[in-house]
Amino acid sequence: MNTYEQVVELAKRRGFFWQAFSIYGGEAGFYDYGPLGVLMRDNITKVWKESYLRDEAVFIDTPVIVPSTVFRASGHIDKFADLATECSKCHNKQKLDTVVKASGFQKTFRSVEEANRFLQENVVKCVVCGNRITQATEFKLMFRMPGQGSSGDLYLRPETAQGIFVNFKLLSNFYRNKLPMAVAQLGKGFRNEISPRQTLIRLREFTQGEIEVFVDPERKYWKEPAGSMPVNLNPRSGESVSMDVVTALKNGIMSSNAMAYFVEKTASILTEVGIDSARLRFRQVPTDELAHYSFDTWDVEALLDDDWVEVVGIADRNDLKNHEKASGESMSVLVDGKSITPSIIEPSYGIDRIFLSVLVHAFYVRDNGFKVLRLPDEIAPYHAAILPLVNKDGMDSMARDFYERIKRVDPYVVYDQSGSIGRRYARQDEIGTPYCITFDSQSTQDGTVTVRERDSARQIRVASQDLLSTGIIGNEKIRSAFRSS
Ligand code: ATP
Ligand code: GLY
Repeated sequence: MNTYEQVVELAKRRGFFWQAFSIYGGEAGFYDYGPLGVLMRDNITKVWKESYLRDEAVFIDTPVIVPSTVFRASGHIDKFADLATECSKCHNKQKLDTVVKASGFQKTFRSVEEANRFLQENVVKCVVCGNRITQATEFKLMFRMPGQGSSGDLYLRPETAQGIFVNFKLLSNFYRNKLPMAVAQLGKGFRNEISPRQTLIRLREFTQGEIEVFVDPERKYWKEPAGSMPVNLNPRSGESVSMDVVTALKNGIMSSNAMAYFVEKTASILTEVGIDSARLRFRQVPTDELAHYSFDTWDVEALLDDDWVEVVGIADRNDLKNHEKASGESMSVLVDGKSITPSIIEPSYGIDRIFLSVLVHAFYVRDNGFKVLRLPDEIAPYHAAILPLVNKDGMDSMARDFYERIKRVDPYVVYDQSGSIGRRYARQDEIGTPYCITFDSQSTQDGTVTVRERDSARQIRVASQDLLSTGIIGNEKIRSAFRSS
């Protein structure tokens, strides 16, 4: 089993995520988050949200069901489609890109006609049964709802972004007509993917965290990036480099200050939540692969075993002009006497793919075969487990009493009294709990406890009373003993 497969097995067994509706055979592209998954996903979105709040973004929440007028203006009704193939023998459906790549070709197509010409002239085979594929079709990716709206069809949104664009004028008033301005939304997106697969990577219902940064098209400026961290950049043309974004901007690798700023910010958020910076890259999307709305996009990709998976897309887009034309409403803002229809820089975070990548990058197996999740303290579902060494001699009642009290300081704790202490440590390591607080016979005499750290398995002794006033991951003695590097 590769790491991804081991993580999927662990995730189901320990309550992070699993296939939805499985008692009825499951439904492709739909996954449930279990008790630990919900806690960990919330911790990831908290880091994301707080980072953007610090950047003075405002957050809104708009409906998931959207009238066709919006998606006609945005171009999604016409253009939000993938090219698909269906094998005439085994009827397996795939994205055209997937089968073409599996047959050894590196090619993207802009139309069905171009794809069909290629399939006539080249041998492309079904990835399941090996039968030759000769036909491609266009497959629309939006789910259309059965009901009707006042102006026609209704759709489930494939991105949260449009809910922000159509509110531009109201938001601009809220922001006191200043530019640049940033508006974010966290919510569900829906896509009728041709071939939903790889658990959380290609879902039909998923969570996006999107920030629409409205900028002057002539300047595309947000704030100065720090330029302090190198990032792995794969530009559209030229060699891949590891470089800070300030240098990349000077060298013309980044097209605007705002793009450079959000590339750096995204690298910082992703590494903070636990993605390994050595397995993270920023790939500038080739012009013929750009989405219909974008002029320039940097895909942010995480390496999962041998596959690079897009977890965030940072796009330069121009949707306000389309909505201005279709709705007749002005989408401009008056800045220093100049009327400006802003451009948009959009970092779009796929929360499910980030969540999965964090788990894959955190996973390792000890020499003794025990599995561990090396999650950052703030991302792990539980900050600590509270354990009596044995369930007698006052250790259990003392541990239980401490548990009841620490929950009021930090509710992300769990109590575990069953099985040997070694088994309990292993159980906590496997779900990423950074610290185990154990009450032993000395605890009953002097009120101190052992704090065992997950990765080093080292232990220190602290006064349980101190933990009640500082919390566990906030305790300076614990931090300096285990997180000094
Ligand atoms: P892909 O090329 O993998 O289909 P995309 O380019 O269509 O992805 P975007 O439209 O840029 O993706 O969406 C922004 C983010 O939303 C992606 O980076 C990804 O993390 C997430 N996302 C998109 N589609 C899905 C999906 N079907 N399941 C889970 N996450 C998704
Ligand atoms: N908002 C970018 C996308 O989902 O396509």
